[in-house]
Amino acid sequence: MDIELNGIDGFAPPPFKIKSVEAIRLISREERERKINENGMNLFLLSSKDVYIDMLTDSGTSAMSDQQWAGIMTGDESYAGSGSFDHLASAVSDIMGFSYTLPAHQGRGAEQTFDKVLIKEGQIVPGNMHFDTTRAHIENVNGRAVDCVIDEAFDAGCELPFKGNIDIGKLEALVKKDPSRIAYILITATCNNGGGQPVSIENMRQTREISSKYKVPLFLDAARYAENAFFIKKREPGYADKRLREIAREMMSYMDGCIMSAKKDALVNIGGFIALNDKELYNRLAPVNVLMEGFPTYGGMSGRDMEAMAIGLYEGIDERYLAHRIGQVEYLAAKLDEAGVPLMKPFGGHAVYINGKEFMSHIPCENFPSQALCVECYLEGGIRGVEIGALLAGRDPDTGESICPKLDMMRLAAPRRVYMREHMDYVAEVVKSVFKRRNEIRGLDFEYESPIMRHFLSRLKWVEG
Ligand code: F0G
Repeated sequence: MDIELNGIDGFAPPPFKIKSVEAIRLISREERERKINENGMNLFLLSSKDVYIDMLTDSGTSAMSDQQWAGIMTGDESYAGSGSFDHLASAVSDIMGFSYTLPAHQGRGAEQTFDKVLIKEGQIVPGNMHFDTTRAHIENVNGRAVDCVIDEAFDAGCELPFKGNIDIGKLEALVKKDPSRIAYILITATCNNGGGQPVSIENMRQTREISSKYKVPLFLDAARYAENAFFIKKREPGYADKRLREIAREMMSYMDGCIMSAKKDALVNIGGFIALNDKELYNRLAPVNVLMEGFPTYGGMSGRDMEAMAIGLYEGIDERYLAHRIGQVEYLAAKLDEAGVPLMKPFGGHAVYINGKEFMSHIPCENFPSQALCVECYLEGGIRGVEIGALLAGRDPDTGESICPKLDMMRLAAPRRVYMREHMDYVAEVVKSVFKRRNEIRGLDFEYESPIMRHFLSRLKWVEG
């Protein structure tokens, strides 16, 4: 057995050693209470120095390798014709097989350019489950984002290997009605809002069939494409002996292109891109990208960032790295599962999703059970997770009523190559002790409700009682 890949007790040791460290500190319980009260029970408003283990996001929080830092020194900062852009475009073409790359400052920068060109007013973008900024950009150009994920995706405990899959029947019914109303189809892999669940190759192939049949383009939101490829290797029949690079190539072969937030699987702190093969579409996107992001050979990034990204793309699809990374998330999830903490299953790729609705079953949806859980984990041990539930869901634009989402969760996202097994042990202990006293925990209410994307800036207070 290959210990590097399979580990001991299923946990692969990190395929790296540490060259530089950053100190972290746990402030006292009294200080944590003061900080969270001062900041309206909103973990986004906390200063990071007051957080001990930060699992708010896996986006832009990776530790770069010595090779990437070396790339930072050799970055070519030329406005036009930067050699670092050539390195980036060559990495994208080598790994993903796309001939044209348009850089952007991050995923949402790429989304903005892309949607401005691809969506006409009133057009629809069906997908499995769109990420928040993806949806917001589609709506910003008066398009409609429609989720067509399989129904099981909303059943937190249901153990299907590919819970990020598109429901092909739902998709075809929507597309067939009027193909001219479909701007493009978007698969998000892995599916962040659905618990980091992967999409199978078979599902991508079937989606391609629909896309070809109705002549509607198909794109991938590739933020976590490498983690998705790893799950395909582990879970999909016929893929166990394939190399991850081959799997990634096959995934991309069904796509007309991809949009990528490189802050995840490309192991950089900032950056993104659009990649595709259609020259005519590239020629329509490039001038818009000049306006929104920058000249086509830098697009909102510095040369050094593109250099680090070119290197990070290769490191991010390395199997030993992914075995460790996904193994680390699984390690934390398994510890919580053992203690009876209700979790989204199967365990996702980049984060552990705790089912806040069930964990805090005594707190009604309108009192934000998962947010109360996030606040308590901070108070208990200085951990910062993020609520993906009723607070994030906001209000129905038609009725003005707060939405009660089917999934109400706390996400503990693991930054890449940052924390060690001991940190995961600590996080598990903190969550477990909150779980033991869950029945004493109250819900939350608004002190101030921010009008848009309310989870970022709202202030909350404990419900009286
Ligand atoms: N697509 C997916 C699937 C994402 O998860 C994100 C960001 C984006 C697009 C947007 O990319 O941040 O570079 O502009 N997700 C982060 C998160 C913010 O915490 O999950 P971005």
